[in-house]
Amino acid sequence: MKIVLTNSVGGVGMPGAVAALRAGRPALDVIETGIRPVELEPTVNSVGRGGWPNLLGEVELDACIMDGRTLETGAVGALRGFLHPISVARKVMETLPHVFLVGEGAARFAAECDAETGDNLTAESRAGWEKWLQEHVPEDVRTRWPDVPLADWARLTAVPETAGGTTVFLVKDAAGDIAAGVSTSGWAFKYPGRLGDSPVIGAGCYADNRYGAAACTGMGELTIRAGTARAIVLYMKIGATVQEACHEAAADLRSLRRRYRGGVTIHAIDRDGQPYVISVRHEGEIKYWLWAEGMETPEEKAALIESW
Ligand code: GLY
Repeated sequence: MKIVLTNSVGGVGMPGAVAALRAGRPALDVIETGIRPVELEPTVNSVGRGGWPNLLGEVELDACIMDGRTLETGAVGALRGFLHPISVARKVMETLPHVFLVGEGAARFAAECDAETGDNLTAESRAGWEKWLQEHVPEDVRTRWPDVPLADWARLTAVPETAGGTTVFLVKDAAGDIAAGVSTSGWAFKYPGRLGDSPVIGAGCYADNRYGAAACTGMGELTIRAGTARAIVLYMKIGATVQEACHEAAADLRSLRRRYRGGVTIHAIDRDGQPYVISVRHEGEIKYWLWAEGMETPEEKAALIESW
């Protein structure tokens, strides 16, 4: 069964992704086609252009892509000044002997690839950062900003879902191949250099044709600790259904002790394209978009919510 599964902010890219899948394009192309419009959409404050910046007012972007045919993968972290981290991640996968570049090295590589440059700090995301500083940091500290210790202020910043969430796409194409992709600007007003789970292969993103794929949104610190995306695929490998695998991974997250402030939403498909989405410790409704073969148009659905 051909399928595209994305979370709510990914809805921006859903029509293009579905059209690409219907046109017979391979899963990796569908992922990129789906994520690139989300990265350009300035009203999505958790991905790409318009994403909330770090404590210094710099937008640092993370992305990962994984090819379920070969388990090849590419990721970039804390990338600044480029519009499409998902495409740079794909270039890492396809052209380098490495799988993961961060910071200045990632930016250097993006430039070598002629990746599209751009200022991702929009007037709105700058205004949001300035408002946060105004509301949380006393004036005597603000006048010295950024030449102050930042750690105390990072503790007050917002977890990613308050900004709308990372975008994740899981795809099974007409050839039966599976791929996963994730892109985010991460935790709003994070400590500079902070990486969430999105670029961490096996935490926020994983795909294996033989068993399925998974990707996560929400507080990446938790899914890094639990190795969530890889765990789900492994649970399916050892016989769990996609639903059982997600509940097991949710139990892993619930068993983490201390240092959590936000929830996680897990998106998964099994090798046949059967989807499942579960949200752990999120309040309110969590939406996602699904298009599967036989559907006329993508459908917006609500994730199952599990309390912590
Ligand atoms: N899940 C996105 C992040 O933690 O940055």
